[in-house]
Amino acid sequence: MPFPDEVKAMVTKATAHRTERLTGTIRVPGDKSISHRSLLFGALAIGETTISGLLEGEDVIATADAMRAMGVQIERTQSKEGPIWRVYGVGVGGLQEPAQVLDMGNSGTGARLLSGVLATSPFTSFMIGDASLSGRPMKRVIDPLSQMGATFVTRSNGRLPMAIQGTASPMPITYVSPVASAQVKSAVMLAGLQAPGRTTVIEPAASRDHSERMLRHFGAEVLVDDRPDGSRAVTIIGEANLIAADVAVPGDISSASFLLVAGLLAQEGLITVEAVGNNPLRNGLVQTLIDMGADLTLSNNRLVAGEPVCDITVKPSKLQGIDVPPERAPSMIDEYPVLAVAASFATGKTRMTGLEELRVKESDRIASVVKGLRANGVAVDDGPDWMTVTGTGQPVSGGGHVAVHLDHRIAMAFLVMGTATTAPVTIDAIEPVATSFPGFLDLMTRLGAHIDTASPS
Ligand code: S3P
Repeated sequence: MPFPDEVKAMVTKATAHRTERLTGTIRVPGDKSISHRSLLFGALAIGETTISGLLEGEDVIATADAMRAMGVQIERTQSKEGPIWRVYGVGVGGLQEPAQVLDMGNSGTGARLLSGVLATSPFTSFMIGDASLSGRPMKRVIDPLSQMGATFVTRSNGRLPMAIQGTASPMPITYVSPVASAQVKSAVMLAGLQAPGRTTVIEPAASRDHSERMLRHFGAEVLVDDRPDGSRAVTIIGEANLIAADVAVPGDISSASFLLVAGLLAQEGLITVEAVGNNPLRNGLVQTLIDMGADLTLSNNRLVAGEPVCDITVKPSKLQGIDVPPERAPSMIDEYPVLAVAASFATGKTRMTGLEELRVKESDRIASVVKGLRANGVAVDDGPDWMTVTGTGQPVSGGGHVAVHLDHRIAMAFLVMGTATTAPVTIDAIEPVATSFPGFLDLMTRLGAHIDTASPS
């Protein structure tokens, strides 16, 4: 398939070279999910919300810009501890019709959550995204939000660009979601803030619960019912008033995962990632790596603004292949690319199942991972919703060139791989990393990695 022009514009290749020793104590940028939500909830609250530790990645900045376009004042100020973002909330129902198109860039979370806000805001808005986001399914949020009274016009197959006509008289609904998706759940909850009465989402398994925790922190009433069959019903009491609240964003466990796997695959050294989120609905990779024999230690467990946070220390480890339970998938959905890299260095087969959602992420992550691993000499099989990586416990050859398909996590996973393969691994574009992990290359370099970048002549 020829690259769209936008992809051609991403030209900076990066090559990771084998590094024997990775060592250091670091912090990773703020959690992406919590960062989006802090801006959205802050904008819909009454009063001034201050946010420390906000992820200043492109995805989150797109959400800030969208809220600004609807009349919300958002400022970045400096403190001794780092940047503080201030959101002067307009209250639920206080947004204004945006004069320009809302460009959500690469961000599925931004696009889906914002759709929920716009669905029950009584004006018309237009949303676009980059080539990756324009290929991703929006029907999953359009279905419930249409039931609440909003009207959407999209390209074929429910893809962006899309027009959203928000309803002035939203209907509360009970929606049984076919997918365990926090984006779907959160979109419906955000729409439900403006509906009278109770809006409920029943998800087949619990997805990340940042919206539940944070909406309560902002004063909303949220009911959670965990059912014996593993499904979860989440109810928001509508016509809510959100009250400004301060947010301290923990380090992103999904970003930390790349450094943890790099530390495991190194020959020597010790990496500690401090102040990283340890929400039980997000930390499936940590458990999985421990099951594979990783020497990982969690310490200094604490609660920061309602979210569990800890420090994680990792030592180089010999890994064994395992069967990763499919029910763990929602708690590590973004970590499969880097898990597949770790599995390439393990002894034996790592079977990963329940992965159908990976097909509709920033890229088709099963396809991207399989191609990338094969290019680097790793045996891997796949099906519609599974991948099996066969590690030999012997050195992995590497030497491959990997297409990242506008996908930040594919880019970072394969750079981590190149720190441990015999020959270097090259990715075709480093730019997507800026969506979620600005400073990734600098942090890797501080730990001792050797990654160089080059624009083609
Ligand atoms: C997110 C939810 C997940 C995840 C994404 C962030 C969120 O997507 O992949 O990176 O912040 O709600 P789904 O909810 O669609 O699985």
